[in-house]
Amino acid sequence: SVPKFKLNNGMEIPAIGLGTWQSKSDEVIAAVSHALKEGYRHIDCAWGYGNEKDVGEGIKQSGIPRSEIWITSKLWGTYHSRVEECLDQTLTNLGVDYLDLYLVHWPVPMNPKGNHPVFPLLPNGKRDVDHSWKLSDTWKQMEDMVKKGKVKAIGISNFSVKKMEEILPTAEIIPATNQLELHPYNPQHELVAYLKEKGIVPQAYSPLGSTGSPLLKDEVIVEIAQKHSIQPADVILGWLVSKGIVALPKSVTPARITSNLNGTIAGVSKLDKDDIAKIDGLAAAGKQKRFIMPPWPVDLGFDNWPPF
Ligand code: A2P
Repeated sequence: SVPKFKLNNGMEIPAIGLGTWQSKSDEVIAAVSHALKEGYRHIDCAWGYGNEKDVGEGIKQSGIPRSEIWITSKLWGTYHSRVEECLDQTLTNLGVDYLDLYLVHWPVPMNPKGNHPVFPLLPNGKRDVDHSWKLSDTWKQMEDMVKKGKVKAIGISNFSVKKMEEILPTAEIIPATNQLELHPYNPQHELVAYLKEKGIVPQAYSPLGSTGSPLLKDEVIVEIAQKHSIQPADVILGWLVSKGIVALPKSVTPARITSNLNGTIAGVSKLDKDDIAKIDGLAAAGKQKRFIMPPWPVDLGFDNWPPF
């Protein structure tokens, strides 16, 4: 069965979930339904992905009861001052009356009255960031959603230590998770260690390196896969879960959806200390690479992120 990790509020999150970013509307219904029928119990969504209605339809079509599924969604940047409004839209889109986990998608509030509801832009073409809004006030509204019973847990996404320090001193509820780009080429060892120390569970998005990733062809990953007669994806996902990191592989391909679940479990049981150490060292050995770097005109406080 799928391993679970205990969160700082006592809840248990399934260590593998289906990612839905970049899953097209017409494909994601079948993908979500297939995943749930194959044993996934965790779906990762976001208002900003624009496909929550279809994710909701997939959940419905699976026939799996809501109470058995872990559903995560995320607050979009133009809603930092209107958390409940964004959350209510998500609940309606998904056709559910609560979320298991609600995350602040990016530590970047955007102008709610800008020239576009999703990506407001300034005349100079840069994203219209609301520099006066405090993340600690976003977090207060997130906490209110727990108190109202609309979400069971709250967390953050794409928060560096620098950004976490803007909310932790005044937080009543410590974030349950921090969802980050985590994979062998961007392991963020120090940040992950910081999260462990604070009792915040790391979640990995783009765990396979996103679309067209070179990770699945990496010679060290391929060699470890061959050694254990498993797939390269199983090695990467197994490595993450062995380290206590929730893995959120995205796929709309039924065979891959199935193999990513069973393969992670195989990976966790087969990888030895030597394998883990080799994968841990890949980035430092010259392969460091971030695949996802939206052009936020803000210092996010991450290494290896160029200024925009
Ligand atoms: P697709 O959705 O067409 O199946 P990530 O989770 O890192 O964002 O990676 C997602 C990308 O990797 C997608 O392009 C997805 O393609 C592909 N993918 C997902 N699972 C596998 C797998 N087991 N083997 C190869 N490619 C995969």
